[in-house]
Amino acid sequence: MIVGVPKEIKNNESRVGMTPAGVFELVKNSHTVYVQSGAGEGSGFFNHDYQRAGATILDTIGQVYAMSDMIVKVKEPIAEEYALIQKGQIVFTYFHFASSEALTKAMIESKSICIAYETVEDEDGTLPLLTPMSEVAGRMAIQQGAKYLEKPVKGRGVLLGGVPGVAPGRVLVLGAGVVGIQAAKMAAGLGAHVTILDVNMKRLRHVNDIMPPHVVTEFSNEFNIRKHIKTHDLIIGGVLLKGAKAPNLITRDMLKDMRPGTVIVDVAVDQGGCVETTRPTTHENPTYIVDDVVHYCVANMPGAVPYTSTVALTNVTLPYVLKLANTGWRTACKLDKSLGKGLNIVEGDIVYKEIAKAFQWEPVLA
Ligand SMILES: NC(=O)c1ccc[n+]([C@@H]2O[C@H](COP(=O)([O-])OP(=O)(O)OC[C@H]3O[C@@H](n4cnc5c(N)ncnc54)[C@H](O)[C@@H]3O)[C@@H](O)[C@H]2O)c1
Repeated sequence: MIVGVPKEIKNNESRVGMTPAGVFELVKNSHTVYVQSGAGEGSGFFNHDYQRAGATILDTIGQVYAMSDMIVKVKEPIAEEYALIQKGQIVFTYFHFASSEALTKAMIESKSICIAYETVEDEDGTLPLLTPMSEVAGRMAIQQGAKYLEKPVKGRGVLLGGVPGVAPGRVLVLGAGVVGIQAAKMAAGLGAHVTILDVNMKRLRHVNDIMPPHVVTEFSNEFNIRKHIKTHDLIIGGVLLKGAKAPNLITRDMLKDMRPGTVIVDVAVDQGGCVETTRPTTHENPTYIVDDVVHYCVANMPGAVPYTSTVALTNVTLPYVLKLANTGWRTACKLDKSLGKGLNIVEGDIVYKEIAKAFQWEPVLA
């Protein structure tokens, strides 16, 4: 198969769909890989790295799309890319169709095979191609939170790890899922006192089993949240209700109970946030202050660490890319049920019913 890796043209996106390691594996399996010139630069991979791994570099995005059977990328295609996508071409990337009717219509018209990273689903209901980005965001949440606790950026002036003779900072983590556990682990590693809340007892038991004693689990309810926000310096929002807006666990009136300079990092901002005063921010201007509480609400946190994010993402996408290239999409999606769930739009038909539901259209079931 001929596999194409275009440069991402969405604003501020520095990740790339394949690393030189991925190219090497595909070429080893007798496939051809075309990489657009400069596609990996934002993530620290240069044309000569791809060439050494066996790729051919093409000058323009148009050439990559025109010459490839399968496109492997990161972000959903933006309007400039719609017309480049060919009939029968496999496009393997994040799509998030339900949030864009224009993209959905364009992909239906293209008659391509759209396989969405975000709906590839394992038997236990986990989403293996979303997990690495939550891992990145969860770990980063503590790095960012620690920074914004510093006084010059309006934080409380607390060092998370404390020093001998001074108690460490206190971190409250809402949600003990992928984001929450990674955040708790990083905070604990810095020596902070960590309280982690969830409504799922299985998750709390797991955290209790694997974390050191200065990570304390408690059940998530309004009473406990109201109690803890008064004494914690950094609050991480890592709550998810699948397919729904995140619940507002911290309401506007609660901010006055926090000490000035408390920092909230609401990672769940991409699902509306779990704090009433959350609104999406960007890496250029990541924070704002409400009632003396610093809010960090960047919706694409992994974008700030493209090297780590690209490698983490491509580690998990590559096995699927290889299956698609080796056997074609029909066989690969039939044999691997997780990958099959990634099929969203096939040759003009929506085959993932949630997308049709989002626009109140009739799905065509595969
Ligand atoms: N901002 C970013 O850049 C970025 C990056 C990656 C992920 N995210 C987002 O972070 C959020 C968390 O993702 P995840 O992968 O950790 O999800 P996850 O499903 O692994 O974990 C969510 C957890 O929230 C818990 N939860 C549900 N209701 C709760 C409540 N009332 N109180 C406490 N906990 C509750 C669930 O039981 C679950 O354990 C998602 O919205 C995801 O989209 C954002």
